Amino acid sequence: DSLGGKMALLQRKWLGHATETYTLEDAPYAAIAGGNDFNRITAENSMKWETIEPAPGVFDFTLSDALVAWAEAHDQAVRGHTLVWHSQLPNWINNPAVPWTAETLKPVLENHVRTVVRHFKGKIDMWDVVNEMFNEDGTYRDTLFQRLFGTDYVKWALTWAHEEDPDALLFINDYNFEYRGAKVDSAALFFKSLIDEKYPLGAVGAQAHLIVGQVSEAGITAGLKHFTDLGLLLYLTEVDIRYEIGRGNDIADYTPSQVAQQAKDYYSLTKACLALQNCIGLTLWQYTDKYSWIPGVWDGTGAALPWDVRLNKKPAYTAMYEAI
Ligand code: XIL
Repeated sequence: DSLGGKMALLQRKWLGHATETYTLEDAPYAAIAGGNDFNRITAENSMKWETIEPAPGVFDFTLSDALVAWAEAHDQAVRGHTLVWHSQLPNWINNPAVPWTAETLKPVLENHVRTVVRHFKGKIDMWDVVNEMFNEDGTYRDTLFQRLFGTDYVKWALTWAHEEDPDALLFINDYNFEYRGAKVDSAALFFKSLIDEKYPLGAVGAQAHLIVGQVSEAGITAGLKHFTDLGLLLYLTEVDIRYEIGRGNDIADYTPSQVAQQAKDYYSLTKACLALQNCIGLTLWQYTDKYSWIPGVWDGTGAALPWDVRLNKKPAYTAMYEAI
């Protein structure tokens, strides 16, 4: 019948999509978004710092509250994305009149994390507490937070979020978390240290922005298992599988074998998650090519989602359906 329906039959598995109130104004899009294929959403942008705290101590929940209300009305749960991230920060954080010090920034960070989690307590059951804190070589990304606090900010943010909502599942989320390598290996070491020190990290988010023809079920299962072996839950948080070749965003411009390859890749990715008991779900980063962020970032590429620009299901959809 539907992807979400099938996922719901599997204990604790979620099938989500990233969306926004401005894309939900598109009625045919909204009909699918609110239908049986999905049981969870993520706010694609509206819970990021620049939107939710646009001025110091001034919180604006207009867009995010509307999105959460839409999710409730359509019987969908909500992942919170994201509390601490170096990107999409407001100007008052990026360009302060007086440079931040550890003493001035810590209370600002605390107020942000606590206020947002408290606001959505009972409505958001998963939070990406820290996003993209690692470099590809496994070192910590050089961000404002890392420079002033070292990794203490991660421990604080987890603690503050947990104090505000003890029931929420707390994540550290990143890209290139799907395959073993320097990034996954050093992240797992860091996560182990957090667990050993009893910080309330509950899960790892692997974004899974992947490339057609470069998806290996065995490779991904092994990568994810490196995290789940720590006892952490795992979620594929921002799934899309884009074509790298310059045929654009319309699946009609790709050859039958290229279309089949993407379907195979969606099948493999879905299977990799389902193979692990601790992998609790996956979320498409928008479900349709019509609203995908990919063409805007990687010019000339795209067609990365299971629904095409006309909102028709692709073979990738059928492949996921068969994998579940
Ligand atoms: C992207 C959104 O999809 C775009 O609309 C926005 O312009 C930039 O951010 N990793 C993340 C997401 O954690 O928040 C990003 O979302 C994609 C990469």
